[in-house]
Amino acid sequence: MHLSCYTGAQTKLLETPLTIPARIAGLGKYLPERVVTNFDLEKMVETSDAWIRDRTGVRERHVAADDETASTMAVLAARQALAQAEVDPMELDLIIGATTSPDGMFPAIASLVQHGLGARRAAAFDINAACVGFLTAFATASQFILSGTYQRVLVVGSEVLSRIVDWSDRGTCVLFGDGAGAVVLEAAKRGEPFSFVFHSDGGGADKLFAHGPCSQPGEADPGCYFIQMDGPHIFKFAVQAMEQATREAVQAAGLTVDDIDLLIPHQANLRIIDATAKRLGLPPERCMTNVDRYGNTSSASIPLALREAWEQGRLHEGDRVVFVAFGGGLVWGALLLEWAPVGPVPAAAREAARVTGGGS
Ligand SMILES: CC(C)(COP(=O)(O)OP(=O)(O)OC[C@H]1O[C@@H](n2cnc3c(N)ncnc32)[C@H](O)[C@@H]1OP(=O)(O)O)[C@@H](O)C(=O)NCCC(=O)NCCS
Repeated sequence: MHLSCYTGAQTKLLETPLTIPARIAGLGKYLPERVVTNFDLEKMVETSDAWIRDRTGVRERHVAADDETASTMAVLAARQALAQAEVDPMELDLIIGATTSPDGMFPAIASLVQHGLGARRAAAFDINAACVGFLTAFATASQFILSGTYQRVLVVGSEVLSRIVDWSDRGTCVLFGDGAGAVVLEAAKRGEPFSFVFHSDGGGADKLFAHGPCSQPGEADPGCYFIQMDGPHIFKFAVQAMEQATREAVQAAGLTVDDIDLLIPHQANLRIIDATAKRLGLPPERCMTNVDRYGNTSSASIPLALREAWEQGRLHEGDRVVFVAFGGGLVWGALLLEWAPVGPVPAAAREAARVTGGGS
């Protein structure tokens, strides 16, 4: 992996890209069984399937059962990724969780995943960078491999956004869904091109946020924990931010947008994805979408889309793949990697995935 990175306007591109061998060895996903369609939402708020599909591209979303949390779903996605990577949980050096809807303020979901998997050797911590959480966690994992500190890192994005969505607010409840996605990143013999960029503008924090129990003293109205958003503002920001980050990430790798074989954008709204792809000049076949079936699953969105791109045979050896995301912070970023093939999904993991709704 030839590494180039910058994290904002001040940081320069590395002049001599560092070379590290690392690759994705396994991919996993988990989706809760319950599906809430737009027609179900028609019965809850003043909306229509036609409006939701036209303005967002979403048809349905999955919603966690009462006994499911971000960590329990993360464990199921992680098991699938580990099975594909043929990595025993005891071989993991580190687990990084990405979530905006953790089981609690602490411990980190990564610690709960570590326990759930029996990955007793692994260190564990979470990253919260809203919908850029998975990308940030993935880039962080790559740095531990780059430094030679760790050989095998599990990165898992998992969300139960249904618990922080106001189901009586038609402006937000139509957008979000629950799910989990995981990757095993491991040191490898071959070097691959790799770059990433991250940005933040905390001045836009009030445009997309959810308060928590520490936001204000005293007994808070539970409603204050709901996601709040200036939709049209975020829409405009998202398109500009995703275009900018994508261009920067390919430039950091010494490539151009024409070299992108597959863009895997954060799945927030089909119109945002289409507008971004159009600005980049990328045709639909070079842009992954699955927002229609899952809505916006925040930190889980990119690993879910990555796993499904692989299931659909859209990832080939040597492909230049770009992940790009934006979210509350405001934060935005992109990451480019060259695809190295992953192994087949073992039959046992396929069966487990079928039973848990995790796909093939
Ligand atoms: C939320 C979003 C879909 C709204 O679409 P929009 O085209 O911007 O719509 P507006 O908010 O301007 O609202 C247009 C009208 O539709 C109405 N409307 C909003 N939600 C509606 C719904 N679910 N069903 C029917 N009508 C709805 C509004 O009340 C408004 O009505 P009015 O014209 O009578 O005032 C869109 O702004 C968006 O996707 N933004 C980005 C959100 C996002 O990605 N957030 C997560 C980031 S990680």
